[in-house]
Amino acid sequence: MPETRIEIPAEALERLKTAGSLAVLTGAGVSAESGLPTFRGKDGLWKNHRPEQLATPQAFSADPKLVWDWYHWRRGIVRNASPNPAHLALVEMEKRIENFTLITQNVDGLHRRAGSREVLEIHGNLCEARCSVCPASAPLEEEEGIVTCEACGAFMRPAVVWFGESLDTALLEKAYVRAGGSDMFIVAGTSGMVQPAASLSYAALRGGGYVLEVNLDPTPLTGEANATILGKAGDILPELVRRVWTGGMQSA
Ligand code: APR
Repeated sequence: MPETRIEIPAEALERLKTAGSLAVLTGAGVSAESGLPTFRGKDGLWKNHRPEQLATPQAFSADPKLVWDWYHWRRGIVRNASPNPAHLALVEMEKRIENFTLITQNVDGLHRRAGSREVLEIHGNLCEARCSVCPASAPLEEEEGIVTCEACGAFMRPAVVWFGESLDTALLEKAYVRAGGSDMFIVAGTSGMVQPAASLSYAALRGGGYVLEVNLDPTPLTGEANATILGKAGDILPELVRRVWTGGMQSA
């Protein structure tokens, strides 16, 4: 069965080939082919739990053990997952483009494990913990149950951004500057439902960058982006690399 040819607009290929700066925003869809459930899809991570039950400061103070157990469970899944071709394609792009920034909403750490270097984890990383009281932070080794701070004895918490919490302002500012100043902006595997991450694509558009959306389903950005390619990130992102660099430039 011949592989279905991925239709990529010639302009997208040309813009990627000539981009001096590229910023990328990823969401859970990029990790889907590593076997990690997305948040809002039919197999959504939230399926068995309401987000406000587990991923809020209120839920943590009400039942820290339940929240820690859920994050230990999630970290176990992530530890057993591997980066997929979508992650690896972004590593390749970073090698090829001078000014490259990867902004991710994902907390699974798979971009770093794949080899990406300039990664802005704007929603944090579930393999790290920080104290709920003092500035202490620590990588999370294999742990069960509630983790306490070695420095002050208070509860540690997963170093992720919960619903109702604000993102790290310095990190977010950097993400906006990179998105708004990029020649090209690729947004992959995100429903674009959560702010402020979703507005990075519009910052890129306002900055005059060429915005290419890669997603399994249409999103609110579809129609606003310069181009949208519907399909799996694990197919499309490597195909972009192949068409522009490794496999010879071909028109769509
Ligand atoms: N390739 C590309 N896109 C995919 C794939 C795939 N293999 N599989 C799923 N998708 C798309 C879905 O169509 C969906 O639009 O990925 C998107 C995932 O959207 P969400 O589940 O909403 O995840 P995300 O956009 O990352 O959520 C943002 O919401 O709950 C919070 O903090 C959490 O970071 C998360 C944020």
